Amino acid sequence: TPASASPHEASRTGARQYTADDDHTAVWSRADALKLKQDRTNTAPRVSPDFPVMTDKVWVWDTWPLTKLNTQTATYKGWHVIFSLTAPRSVPFGDRHWYAKIGYFYSRDAKSWKYGGDLFPAGTSFGSREWAGSTALIGDKVQSFYTASGRDNGGVDPSDALQRLAQATGKIHADKNRVWFSGFRDHRIIAQADGKLYQTLEQSQQGPIIYAFRDPFVFRDPRDRKIHLLFEGNTGGTAGSYQCTKRDLGDLPAGHEVPEDSKYYTGNIGLATADGDSMENWKLQPPLLSANCVNQQTERPHLIIRGGKYYLFTISHKFTFAPGLSGWDGLYGFVGPGLRSEYQPLNGSALVLGNPEDAPTQQYSHYVMPNGLVESFIDTVPTADGGTRFGGTLARTLALSLKDDRTRLAGQLDYGFIP
Ligand code: FRU
Repeated sequence: TPASASPHEASRTGARQYTADDDHTAVWSRADALKLKQDRTNTAPRVSPDFPVMTDKVWVWDTWPLTKLNTQTATYKGWHVIFSLTAPRSVPFGDRHWYAKIGYFYSRDAKSWKYGGDLFPAGTSFGSREWAGSTALIGDKVQSFYTASGRDNGGVDPSDALQRLAQATGKIHADKNRVWFSGFRDHRIIAQADGKLYQTLEQSQQGPIIYAFRDPFVFRDPRDRKIHLLFEGNTGGTAGSYQCTKRDLGDLPAGHEVPEDSKYYTGNIGLATADGDSMENWKLQPPLLSANCVNQQTERPHLIIRGGKYYLFTISHKFTFAPGLSGWDGLYGFVGPGLRSEYQPLNGSALVLGNPEDAPTQQYSHYVMPNGLVESFIDTVPTADGGTRFGGTLARTLALSLKDDRTRLAGQLDYGFIP
């Protein structure tokens, strides 16, 4: 069985294996991050300012396909289905987060998307807005995971940074003309920051930079057969109390000083495990990977498994790197021999796809599918007259080639191609 194969593999490769419950967290070190460098293989092509818009009704940003628990995209009765954070286009683009709701789109060809409206019935979700998540088709049921962002009934309040993980169950329906959903009336909060493994909002309050406990990504690990969630967190404890360890710093070049305020940057990739296939209860586990003293935000973590290797991806911003480091808005990744393992940064530094220097916020929220295609949304694109155009629609899908611990940009496909 795959489960008993791993110790053998471990002894052969010398790589230590851990179980999901073990207390071992891999690190993205400062030394790794100091190697960040753009080149042809990891720089996204410029987004053309004349991009098409999917719908004139809503801004579209973080997007994910309907998946099976094995992370493969799923179709239903021949329909492709995707879920996106959406907000009315009447809301200023920069304010969209405070109005976010999960909307859905369906398509026959995986690129001409028809907007289906909100996923959940009005008034059923927790929080004051719905942030990113994942949606799995299991049998004839749809399990939806999302971030309940803000207090319940908190209204539009950008100062309210509370985030909890939530789950709701529904059913998908389709005929030859359209796709729709029913159910989603049984919302539950399934995980909250505990203050030990994951920082609570209260503990974050002293910190100068944005807090996270969000973006659940559901999958089944083929080795332990358990259902897990990845999510974005911050290391538990009061902001500012963290002390950078030797391991966090890595093998630094002589003369590299670590600015004191680096201790405020404590992003991690969290893990929660279900007690069984019915997913009644979820247990918080130690993070899979931390970016302590490196980066405050490891957003929308997700993974694909190829040839027995676990590729862990996350998105991050230039402005969330700790002082003394710098990167790009884009996609970062790590590879390891198991779900909980000694992940190594892809390409030495973890950079997989960064925005070009002359269009630093052109696209974001990249999501890698098991087929190596990467979807993202168009954010803010420079125009020829020196202005900018807001996107709020899906970018061209990029193709990634993946080999061992290396990735390479391999091509550019249609807008919003999510097969
Ligand atoms: C990434 C992100 C997610 C979050 C959402 C909020 O673009 O910051 O982490 O769920 O956007 O709009």
